[in-house]
Amino acid sequence: MTEAKIIAVLGATGSQGGGLVRAIQGDPKGGFRARALTRNVESEKARALAELGAEVVAVDVDDPASLERAFDGAYGAYCVTFYWEHFSPEKEKAQVRAMAEAAKTAGLQHVVWSTLEDTRDWMSIDDERMPTLMEKYKVPHFDAKGESNAIFTELSVPTTFLHTSFYWDNLIFFGMGPQRGEDGKLAFNLPMGDQKLPGIAAEDIGRCAYGIFKSGDEMIGKSVGIAGEFLSGAEMAATLTSAYGEDVVYNAVPFDVYRGLGFPGADDLGNMFQFKHDFQEDFLGRRDLELSRKLNPDLQTFATWVAANKDRIPSGG
Ligand SMILES: NC(=O)c1ccc[n+]([C@@H]2O[C@H](COP(=O)([O-])OP(=O)(O)OC[C@H]3O[C@@H](n4cnc5c(N)ncnc54)[C@H](OP(=O)(O)O)[C@@H]3O)[C@@H](O)[C@H]2O)c1
Repeated sequence: MTEAKIIAVLGATGSQGGGLVRAIQGDPKGGFRARALTRNVESEKARALAELGAEVVAVDVDDPASLERAFDGAYGAYCVTFYWEHFSPEKEKAQVRAMAEAAKTAGLQHVVWSTLEDTRDWMSIDDERMPTLMEKYKVPHFDAKGESNAIFTELSVPTTFLHTSFYWDNLIFFGMGPQRGEDGKLAFNLPMGDQKLPGIAAEDIGRCAYGIFKSGDEMIGKSVGIAGEFLSGAEMAATLTSAYGEDVVYNAVPFDVYRGLGFPGADDLGNMFQFKHDFQEDFLGRRDLELSRKLNPDLQTFATWVAANKDRIPSGG
């Protein structure tokens, strides 16, 4: 019997990495085994992954030696960064470099890097349609990831560049669920005008990544964009209306209003939505629904995701 190929998974206790570990361990005959990487091997989430049969190994992406140990002997790795833990594009780029260098040292045969667009390829830094943030970024949490793609190429790491989409789970965890207004009605607030937002169930990102690993060399060196569906705010509100059995009205929040909401990262996210809105054709064009379903035949639609999760979405009381 051939030995299972080890995929070292960063962010294994989180959304993207967790989906990948569950996909690998859910397919015992697939020829792969997950090495779940976490800062805390004793946490409840880490133990749950061990119970699925994953090897659980300690890592801190700020400690390059721990990354080298974590990747040692593996066939491949899933690399994802954690922007919202520190809000620093410079830190994100340093962490990607450490990941790519460890992948090179370990001689990994396939890395899937979870990236996003460098929006400065569409807008120069002095473009006035949206503010420049931190002196050199338009959408810091996108730009730092896109800029980091070059690190994998520069180090000749065999990499698939996975372009992800907005998690529908943000309705549960990021306060983006419908809010009840003073008029007693539920409003779904989103700054997307009448344009479509590519979205995905976070769990499906890892499942698509598993499809990429299973495809062997086919997607190495390529950019792959995934989404579950492309939907306008009005279409998402209509799905929420059917699921709740109560009217949910779409409210197209102006970009400037969103940027000014005052929570950490509001300006970054306001610019992100405006980028997706203003460059709709390119942004959608870089994500392939058919390929996403081919990589992950169980890909959820927004309606199936809402039906399974509506009780978890806080609806503002
Ligand atoms: N929300 C969205 O719509 C969306 C869409 C596309 C892309 N993204 C991107 O997704 C990324 C986050 O991925 P995610 O949502 O899967 O993350 P997540 O669910 O927040 O989980 C991140 C995991 O990473 C681990 N971690 C944090 N810091 C670490 C460190 N220094 N060393 C090692 N592990 C560390 C933590 O695990 P332990 O505590 O167990 O170590 C945590 O469980 C962000 O960069 C974001 O920009 C988000």
